[in-house]
Amino acid sequence: MKFSRYTTDKETLERELEDLSYIPLTASFAMNHHMFSAYASSTVVKSPEVAIRGRWQGIDGNFVSQEYLLNFRPDGRALGFQMGVRRFFEPDAVSNSARSYLREDVSEAVVLPRPKRVKTSFGSLVAERRSSRNFVPAPVSLETLSTMLAHGAGVTGHLKPQNPADPGGEIGVRAAASGGGLYPVRLHLLVNRVEGLDPRAYTYQPHSHTLRIGPTIPQFAELCWSPDFDVADASFCIAYEYDVYANSRKYGEAGLAYGLIEVGSISQNLHLARTSFGMAGCDQGGYRKQDLERAVGLDGVIKHIVHFSVFGTQG
Ligand SMILES: Cc1cc2nc3c(=O)[nH]c(=O)nc-3n(C[C@H](O)[C@H](O)[C@H](O)COP(=O)(O)O)c2cc1C
Repeated sequence: MKFSRYTTDKETLERELEDLSYIPLTASFAMNHHMFSAYASSTVVKSPEVAIRGRWQGIDGNFVSQEYLLNFRPDGRALGFQMGVRRFFEPDAVSNSARSYLREDVSEAVVLPRPKRVKTSFGSLVAERRSSRNFVPAPVSLETLSTMLAHGAGVTGHLKPQNPADPGGEIGVRAAASGGGLYPVRLHLLVNRVEGLDPRAYTYQPHSHTLRIGPTIPQFAELCWSPDFDVADASFCIAYEYDVYANSRKYGEAGLAYGLIEVGSISQNLHLARTSFGMAGCDQGGYRKQDLERAVGLDGVIKHIVHFSVFGTQG
């Protein structure tokens, strides 16, 4: 039947809509599953559709993450500065990254043993890595922990950029890539059962390959409760800290995305390394962020815990 598009007659329209029943369905889908941004009031996208759609939406109930993505500007020119690796070797960038070992406090740190070389093939590790929540309360060795940390976030090389301001300065580069070599992610260990280590918090210092001793965590099992396993059976957990200022001074809002990407790379390295030891391990989306930050001494404003992984002996 021919659809009279411009009819204003209600009965005709209803009859035609009955024949073309997909039309109201489509309209309803469009209304409920937003074709355009629900964040039009705050997004930088200025298309008329977005502006109109935005009028229909309240600002309550927006996902901050979607709003962030809608406002994401990938072009350095739009951010008012040049970003990108081309400037990585320029003096100001180099000065930011070089000699970062000086920030490590080794005075009372635990020196980790030399990491082992993982011999299992990369293909096998990737194929065999599985999240396992089957922990038994048995300790892992300090050498195992050392090897995991070295492969996860250890310093694996040195760049020697020509910097007139600092001719001897080197940049220690690590197992996982980092936007601009700024390394905004730090690893906090919550040790439960590792041979030779007191159960408490530690911070991994990659340049010296040491653990800075942190506070004891009496509420360890509470901070990462899971319905699937008892975290008290795990050997250690890793809380990933993202320091907003470490890379956002260069990358603006994009810094968060880069930080989270880097957390993912480190975490994958850690899981591949623990797979080589036949260990159990699992990422944990649910952890008590604020309590955890307080426990390890982070302000939760500039420095945040953004991810959590549990490792232990396989049952
Ligand atoms: C960011 C993230 C959060 C996760 N959170 C949990 C969690 O809270 N509890 C859990 O048991 N597994 C968690 N996992 C593990 C996933 O369930 C697991 O990776 C997925 O089921 C695929 O299985 P696989 O890792 O064995 O390949 C998480 C994984 C990621 C990457």
